Amino acid sequence: MSRILQHAHQTLIQALSPQAVVVDATVGNGLDTAFILRHDVIKHVFAFDVQEDAINTARILNPSYKVTWILDTHANVDLYVDACDGVIFNLGFLPGSPSSVTTTKTDVLLALDKLQHILKPNGVIVIVVYPSHPEGILEHLALQEWIQGLTHPFYSYEYKRTYHDTAPYVITIYKQKNSSK
Ligand SMILES: C[S@@+](CC[C@H](N)C(=O)[O-])C[C@H]1O[C@@H](n2cnc3c(N)ncnc32)[C@H](O)[C@@H]1O
Repeated sequence: MSRILQHAHQTLIQALSPQAVVVDATVGNGLDTAFILRHDVIKHVFAFDVQEDAINTARILNPSYKVTWILDTHANVDLYVDACDGVIFNLGFLPGSPSSVTTTKTDVLLALDKLQHILKPNGVIVIVVYPSHPEGILEHLALQEWIQGLTHPFYSYEYKRTYHDTAPYVITIYKQKNSSK
């Protein structure tokens, strides 16, 4: 696993308390879901993907009663989730698949706008960004602009291992405590 993904996983898990509810916004092959489920603090995972094949593969890898599998876009997260403690987005294409389905800036930003309200105080959103393909560049640019507009109780930071424009990186967004937003 890449150091970038390791960083995303550790950041997510370290921010969670017992009985945590987590949204896996991009299930793919289910490896991120599997990582999340390995931790005792997890009460439930809401797992989204728009590809039925991805959901089916991930479900076989993770036969857990703790997961609600949702074949829908993360942009509809508010239809399924009232409150959560952590969210992970692993943007881009399904690894190892011939499918050309990729995440889009439109749906990611729609989901993030909604998650600002769904995320509980002390919650965290972790986004792995890949600005190495056309839609990934659009997502990167849109996310940079969106982050500039974040105000209290939210703050963010980025983790990057190399400074190539196309290198993957992680955006982490925290929601501070004592907030009613
Ligand atoms: C990079 S892969 C995720 C990798 C995955 N987390 C894993 O552990 O294997 C991105 C996934 O996002 C899914 N996706 C694309 N658009 C989506 C959307 N609007 N809502 C939810 N999932 C989406 C794709 O189908 C793809 O499976």
